Amino acid sequence: MIRPFAAGDEAALLALNESNVPEVGPMSADKLALFARISPFFEVVEIDDQVVGMLIGLTEQQTEYSSPNYQWFSRRHQRFAYVDRIALAPSTRGQGWGPELYRRFEGWAHDNDKPFLCAEVNTVPANPRSMRFHELFGFADVGRCRPYGPDEEVAMVEKVVPPRSTLGRSDAGSE
Ligand SMILES: CC(C)(COP(=O)(O)OP(=O)(O)OC[C@H]1O[C@@H](n2cnc3c(N)ncnc32)[C@H](O)[C@@H]1OP(=O)(O)O)[C@@H](O)C(=O)NCCC(=O)NCCS
Repeated sequence: MIRPFAAGDEAALLALNESNVPEVGPMSADKLALFARISPFFEVVEIDDQVVGMLIGLTEQQTEYSSPNYQWFSRRHQRFAYVDRIALAPSTRGQGWGPELYRRFEGWAHDNDKPFLCAEVNTVPANPRSMRFHELFGFADVGRCRPYGPDEEVAMVEKVVPPRSTLGRSDAGSE
């Protein structure tokens, strides 16, 4: 099931995050506590009492968050919904949980009048699965950044939030 983040999820989420670096950025306990406090959308996937996935979503004007990628989108849009990170344990990938988390966040963006869904995906080192995942969901590549030096590059990707009847993967039609 997918449910909101709850106190008690921290250890599982820190371990999940750690096992997905560098595809997602590192996350300390303090950073997780910050997300728990400021994220308007923070949902987890729970299977057999184990937390095996998460999506942390932010929005504009979250001044306590200093990520250069988040700030890049803050300069670009007045209102937006930003995927700070999505990660699934390997055994749960390819089963629809990723698209479902994105559909839910996209629905949240729609309901909260956020016209853009924004994220970044590593291109150096490459993350082809996530790139494909974002392409399938209808994201477009709108820029490249090297916020942490020459050895790392990210593609800035975004999607115009569509009417609710067409939310979801771009190849999935109405759902
Ligand atoms: C990114 C992530 C959330 C996507 O969830 P998922 O359940 O794996 O997504 P899906 O399987 O629905 O979609 C991935 C697509 O990429 C394809 N794919 C799988 N491995 C691939 C690879 N090495 N190269 C290119 N495409 C690949 C899949 O076949 C699928 O396409 P399809 O639906 O046409 O078959 C998940 O893979 C994950 O947690 N990865 C590790 C953390 C991460 O990279 N987070 C994102 C940071 S930007």
